[in-house]
Amino acid sequence: MKSSLGKRIKALRKKLFRKTEDNFFRPRNRFITVGRHTYGIRKNTIIGATEKSPVSIGHFCSIGGNVQILAHVGHPVDLPSTYPFRSLVFRHTKNQTPAPGHLNHDSVTRGPIHIGHDVWVGHNALILSGVTIGIGAVIGAGAVVTRDIPPYAIAVGSPARVIRHRFDPAAISALLKSEWWELPDAALEKIDSCLYARDIPAFLDAVVRQRANPGGQ
Ligand SMILES: CC(C)(COP(=O)(O)OP(=O)(O)OC[C@H]1O[C@@H](n2cnc3c(N)ncnc32)[C@H](O)[C@@H]1OP(=O)(O)O)[C@@H](O)C(=O)NCCC(=O)NCCS
Repeated sequence: MKSSLGKRIKALRKKLFRKTEDNFFRPRNRFITVGRHTYGIRKNTIIGATEKSPVSIGHFCSIGGNVQILAHVGHPVDLPSTYPFRSLVFRHTKNQTPAPGHLNHDSVTRGPIHIGHDVWVGHNALILSGVTIGIGAVIGAGAVVTRDIPPYAIAVGSPARVIRHRFDPAAISALLKSEWWELPDAALEKIDSCLYARDIPAFLDAVVRQRANPGGQ
């Protein structure tokens, strides 16, 4: 009885630990950078980051389940065939190692992917290469992001289109200028009540106060 309970606790611990680890997975690829406290990146969230298509994700981002960021994994559409002959068929290249960071000899990309700080990417979204998602943006569930999304915009659909902004232009520019995401965790904790209130001016004042007097009230 005792040992079966012990086994169950052990299995539960293992499950929880794996979940935590998975949620804060940090890819070991020098072409991927992930900011502090960003969560939801899993082993196959970012595919094919290379020197031509590095992926950077800012601080405090929430990445939904099943999100895929497709970096350097395109096929050329302007050649006679889209098939990766040099990677899979031709003997002179098949056994050669592709250039560092590249998945194979054939993949193409539209360039780097940048995801700013405090971005929320909804479940099942797809982010294609060459796009920048601005600070504070929201990407709706199932969206396909093919073009840049401005800061604090909410974009949905395929291709993703901006339906509105989270705040008015003055508030957006003040939030961007504040760079609140650079405050240390302890300073953010001090202004917890402002982080959870719908009052941007009060939040910005609190950020300024924390900058001037870190850890103060
Ligand atoms: C984008 C989102 C945040 C809602 O934003 P919102 O500004 O409050 O949007 P609304 O609900 O007011 O909807 C506005 C319009 O966009 C449409 N819309 C909302 N979300 C959409 C989506 N994901 N895809 C397509 N259209 C969407 C609505 O149907 C509505 O259209 P209408 O004006 O023609 O009726 C939300 O719909 C969403 O996708 N959340 C992600 C949830 C998720 O993935 N959670 C788990 C991951 S952590």
